[in-house]
Amino acid sequence: MTGPGARRDEDNHEYMNRRHFLRASVSATALAALPRAAATPRPGVAQLTVAAADQSLVGSSHPRTAVWAYNGTVPGPELRLRQGERLRLSVENRLDVETTVHWHGIRLPNAMDGVPHLTQPPIAARGGRFVYEFDLPDAGTYWYHPHLGSPEQVGRGLYGALVVEERDPPPVDRDVVWVLSDWRLDREARSVGDFRNFMDASHAGRIGNTVTVNGTVRDSWAVRAGERIRLRLVNASNARIYGLRFEGHAPWVIALDGHPVEPHPSEQVVLGPGMRADLILDCAAAPGTAHRVIDDFYARRAYELLKLAYSGEAPLRGRFPDAPRLPDNPVAIPDLTKAERHRLVFAGGMMGAIPAQREHRGLFWTVNGVPMREDAHRHEPLMTLAHRRSHVIELVNDTVWDHPIHLHGHTFLVTSRNGKPNPRREWSDTVLLRPDDRAEIALVADNPGNWMLHCHVLEHQASGMMAVVRVS
Ligand code: C2O
Ligand code: CU
Repeated sequence: MTGPGARRDEDNHEYMNRRHFLRASVSATALAALPRAAATPRPGVAQLTVAAADQSLVGSSHPRTAVWAYNGTVPGPELRLRQGERLRLSVENRLDVETTVHWHGIRLPNAMDGVPHLTQPPIAARGGRFVYEFDLPDAGTYWYHPHLGSPEQVGRGLYGALVVEERDPPPVDRDVVWVLSDWRLDREARSVGDFRNFMDASHAGRIGNTVTVNGTVRDSWAVRAGERIRLRLVNASNARIYGLRFEGHAPWVIALDGHPVEPHPSEQVVLGPGMRADLILDCAAAPGTAHRVIDDFYARRAYELLKLAYSGEAPLRGRFPDAPRLPDNPVAIPDLTKAERHRLVFAGGMMGAIPAQREHRGLFWTVNGVPMREDAHRHEPLMTLAHRRSHVIELVNDTVWDHPIHLHGHTFLVTSRNGKPNPRREWSDTVLLRPDDRAEIALVADNPGNWMLHCHVLEHQASGMMAVVRVS
């Protein structure tokens, strides 16, 4: 990586030695009981103001970066509510451009989904308002972001986490969110302004040179030996895919895209744009040590995200109970024997079939041969799903690029990848298709309305790779 976010490469040797030492020293300490209640919901934020701001992304030795922010900070406020509660939020837009707020992953009424022209009028520039109000049926880790001019609006910092806590959350010592994002900054830490350039749109999207965790480049994250942390990861990047490894640790994945999954260890936690994972991170190493969290999704561009820095305090406990199995959310289970079958083929991009250039300027991608504009005022549905029926949709990536495909308003089961049945029951709202991948998803179309389905690489979304799925 280059630019102000570039990180020095650490010497591996000393680190490996420490880790060997740690493994031997952990097991002796006595078991401390885990606290019963994880985190208490905060009093709800009632007002969300969208406006320009500035923020120190790369530390005080660099200039601040002009950003667009919710309530003045990137990420925006962490909204924490409890399952079954109702979210009510008045949004005021002080930007010079229209915006909306989309509640990624929430199964809500169509009119609250935040898609301009399709579900609501855009929130006008310089003073427009819109009130979002809906129930939260599912516990889990979600997020919010605009659904208009997405490459620039999200790329300048408009996103925040929405955490819906279980009615009876599993015991942990800390429940924290890492909103992962990246920026393309110049040497003065300014966002490079070419948000819709041809290269990004037709290739892998806008992948930045500076990675932030909760809005700052970080050297370290403080932990205590013996702590059990519920770590909620949100990929809010326009295009960057993360593949995180927690050196010296063995985190359990307990939820994907907010929904419980059978707890399983993961060597590398892979998250495409829009995707989330809840981890149980047991801090089993020794006081005073430090351990790298590496992102090596792009093998030749591996870097250190930060270090887990253990305080000198005595371990809180020496052994950890099994990772908790979260209670299922009330999502209807599709009946695969009676499901209607559909197929969506994603095509285009460089080295692929770019749709007839002359008719479709700036459109590089298609779904079933059709490119759709993000700013279209009329949206014809590409596919209609019969209401209350079970459906299986085969998603085919006919390109040499990665595409995290996201469906609004529903949660689906990822039933197979490349012809292999998924060994786990895995609910998602965004499924990452690697080049030439195919996946099958299954759902009960129980939420009527016109819903977006699109690639969450925002430059792909804005240059054709989106479609409307009607449930009626
Ligand atoms: Cu996270 Cu259509 O969006
Ligand atoms: Cu894509």
